[in-house]
Amino acid sequence: MKTLVILISGRGSNMQSLLDADLNVDRRVVISNNPDAEGLRIAQRYGVETFVINHRQFPDRQTFDAALAEKMAIFQPKLIALAGFMRVLTDEFVQRYQDRLINIHPSLLPAFPGLSTHARALREGVKIHGCTVHFVTPQLDHGPIIIQAAISVLPQDTEASLSQRVLQQEHRIFPQAVRWFIDGQLKLTNGVVEINNASTSNITLYSPGLAE
Ligand code: GAR
Repeated sequence: MKTLVILISGRGSNMQSLLDADLNVDRRVVISNNPDAEGLRIAQRYGVETFVINHRQFPDRQTFDAALAEKMAIFQPKLIALAGFMRVLTDEFVQRYQDRLINIHPSLLPAFPGLSTHARALREGVKIHGCTVHFVTPQLDHGPIIIQAAISVLPQDTEASLSQRVLQQEHRIFPQAVRWFIDGQLKLTNGVVEINNASTSNITLYSPGLAE
């Protein structure tokens, strides 16, 4: 049985994009570290199994991750997708699931790892911003990159408008990365990502655009 485990902490829109996607999996399971996560209600509407492992009930990161790993052992996941999961995982957990643990991050990594990515992009004045799906490694937001989407930053952009346009792209690239993985098109060999039969379009994004 091919099981996709989706870890969430909040709103759950990226999780929803994975529940909407046509994926060759037998079972989808959602786990939240936050009992009040909006995403739990969405998953329940989809009839997906949900579980809460509330990090507040554990004295430290190690014991929380051990409980999470114990749950994973039951599901034997083919892939674990971090969909807005806002807990830093211990090295032990990451190493155990290294080749089947992926994350969606709201910036063009390696730029802007961590939090408040859109505010920082605006502050730095970057003209191109976006999102990244990558394998998770012990170094936060630095694992091998699977796919990225880039958008122009517009002069009138606010943190809210930018995050909304980036989020639309997150919902496109995350299901794509998961599908590649599940279909066996995606390989990670010695830290290098290889994707079979991916289109290699050669597009240049100018931002602002060139004067004609
Ligand atoms: C998304 O923008 C995701 O990329 C980000 O949190 C948001 C969750 O939204 N994740 C991170 O910042 C991880 N470091 P969602 O719950 O609606 O998917």
